[in-house]
Amino acid sequence: MPNHLIQAGILGVGSYVPERILTNKELEQMVDTSDEWITTRTGIRERRIADPAVSTSDLAVRASRKALEHAGVKPEELDLIILTTCSKDMPLPAGACLVQTELGAPQAGAFDLEAGCSGFVYGLTIASQFIATGAMKRILVIGAEVLSRIINWQDRNTCVLFGDGAGAVVVGPVAPGEGILASKLSAEGAGWEHLYIPAGGAKMPADPVTVEKKLHYVHMNGKEVFRYATRVMEEESIHLIKAANLRLEDIDLLIPHQANIRIIEHAARKLKLPMEKVVVNLDRYGNTSSASIPLALDEAVKSGRVKAGDNIVMVAFGAGLTSGGIVLKWSKGEGESNET
Ligand code: ACO
Repeated sequence: MPNHLIQAGILGVGSYVPERILTNKELEQMVDTSDEWITTRTGIRERRIADPAVSTSDLAVRASRKALEHAGVKPEELDLIILTTCSKDMPLPAGACLVQTELGAPQAGAFDLEAGCSGFVYGLTIASQFIATGAMKRILVIGAEVLSRIINWQDRNTCVLFGDGAGAVVVGPVAPGEGILASKLSAEGAGWEHLYIPAGGAKMPADPVTVEKKLHYVHMNGKEVFRYATRVMEEESIHLIKAANLRLEDIDLLIPHQANIRIIEHAARKLKLPMEKVVVNLDRYGNTSSASIPLALDEAVKSGRVKAGDNIVMVAFGAGLTSGGIVLKWSKGEGESNET
């Protein structure tokens, strides 16, 4: 192990969304809602839905292949695969193991990480620590969700919000002063009942009654989650920017978790960031939980919105309740690797 810490950064990014689009208009036929309500209260216009034969690990593999290609890294070079998700294929084993075999990454350790919609920033932070110590050189961090399978399609409070998709990054060493400058992981476990799936685990195993009562789907107290989100998005961002020794005016891009445009606009206002500096794609994908930040990052990178040297803040909140974020200085030239 080296006696100095190595800077960790993103070497490549990729994403994948299913083709099937579910519009607000279609939802009007399914539950008592309206395009107008969904658009004004959330900013969401449509979301992607995976085909029945496709699961979370399948989306994860597709996003990962693109991230590996972008990074110029081969699957067999990976030391670790972290799959962050709250809609895993099965309770056991970790979906990351299915991804590992499908990609052909026999050297890589593999595990799942569940931190609600904050999963991706949790995963990226953990990966950066292994890179920093020199223990590992190439880590794949994936956020992938098929939330359409864990949503009650008769509950208008939740079914209009979520969508399916995946995003992935390859993490590795970058030059000093670049890559991840600061990160923060937080949780307020006292709020766990504001967003949870009651049944299907050890606390309330599946039986015919839990199925009949639809206890295997997401239950949410939207108002409480909204209150938490508006508070922590601001607090976490300010803490992170200070920790990275930056000022608000040094931030080039905010990539927030894509849950609700009102939460994002509130954060941008508090951080005095014009919306041109904020990445928003929830209008097209809804809330894809762990996938939302890497999906938005990938679109921003591939559209040329992210430039080398940009200071990027990624900040998330989610079930747990959890929150967290990362500040990074983007160092990757399009199609180049940051090999050190
Ligand atoms: N269509 C029409 N009416 C609706 C719908 C809908 N889809 N959903 C709720 N309503 C109704 C409610 O029943 C309520 O009616 P009532 O006054 O008769 O009771 C009314 O609209 C207002 O409901 P509110 O909850 O006050 O609406 P609000 O403006 O707070 O928006 C929302 C609700 C969008 C859920 C908001 O609270 C929110 O975004 N919360 C955060 C949710 C979130 O981000 N969750 C994901 C977290 S990440 C993770 O880990 C998965």
